[in-house]
Amino acid sequence: MKEIKIAVLPGDGIGPEIIAQAIKAVDKVAEKFSYKVEYTHAKVGAAAIDEVGDPYPEQTHQACMAADAVLFGAIGDPRYDNNPEAKVRPEQGLLAMRKKLGLYANLRPVNTFESLLHRSPLRHELIDGADFLCVRELTGGLYFGRPQGRSEDGNTAYDTCVYTRGEIERICKLGFEYAAARRGKLTVVDKANVLATSRLWRETAKAMEKEYPSVEVEYMFVDNAAMKIIQQPKHFDVIVTENMFGDILTDEASVITGSLGLLPSASIGTGTSLFEPIHGSYPQAAGKNIANPIATILSAAMMFEYAFNDMEAGAAIRRAVDLSIEQNIVTEDIAPEGIKPSSTTEVGDFIAANI
Ligand code: IPM
Ligand code: MG
Repeated sequence: MKEIKIAVLPGDGIGPEIIAQAIKAVDKVAEKFSYKVEYTHAKVGAAAIDEVGDPYPEQTHQACMAADAVLFGAIGDPRYDNNPEAKVRPEQGLLAMRKKLGLYANLRPVNTFESLLHRSPLRHELIDGADFLCVRELTGGLYFGRPQGRSEDGNTAYDTCVYTRGEIERICKLGFEYAAARRGKLTVVDKANVLATSRLWRETAKAMEKEYPSVEVEYMFVDNAAMKIIQQPKHFDVIVTENMFGDILTDEASVITGSLGLLPSASIGTGTSLFEPIHGSYPQAAGKNIANPIATILSAAMMFEYAFNDMEAGAAIRRAVDLSIEQNIVTEDIAPEGIKPSSTTEVGDFIAANI
């Protein structure tokens, strides 16, 4: 019996519903692969602001620190989105969590599902076989640079983009390593024709090239990368990029897969790793039992693979997900025309039952 501790942070919007489905899958894996799982539930985001006034309370942080892995749903609440007066925002909880847990790398794999190729607005032959990994820097850049704010008269606003050589080196190292373990191709995405931080990225990555002779490196401006991801997704193997470029490019890349509701991620760094879908809290769907739980369930698969080094458990979850897609037991975002969409819980039950 392998004993594991998982901190469960459902968060806001559809978070609790999709996390509940991932837990069903984890429970089933535990039964099949002899794990004893101890769950600790904790609040984050608007749910935590409502309760204790802090989007990432110390108690939640302690629960994450004490766990072997964190399973996280989503953050965000429309009550705060259009409210410039809001002093504290749910998203600050996500950023604080990433920073305090030292999660400097966010791994976002992008690949296609055979039976969903028809769902993508992109041509079948363009995307069939697309398979790349986006390594997004997660604790630097515009998201964290200071100063950030407004001038006294309120008419000027500023954000600061900051990167140190050390921060760039550690994320590029992962990019090189994953490329070496995959098909040997690394694309460093930046905006070095305009930004000083990007020029430091390029200089730093270039200096690392000789340590990885098996990896072929290319440098691409982010605007060009945005186009190429759609036009020729099979061009890419591993992409490494800064925080905000990675945020934007991966939402874009989800179009290749067929739905934003399908892309999982692993956030790794200096301590406990965290697993989360790349999508947000989808407040319009909250409580309706219609949200796609697959991105979160696949995040649980990544948890077994990355945090517990158990490829078989991960593969068992992936096979059950494939089966649900093949048999059209899927939510409305990916249900084919003429087929009645399944609910969030029906998809979760089907996948758990097939692990
Ligand atoms: C993501 C999300 C977050 C981000 C938001 C909710 C702050 O879009 O994880 O991609 O921008 O990092
Ligand atoms: Mg995003």
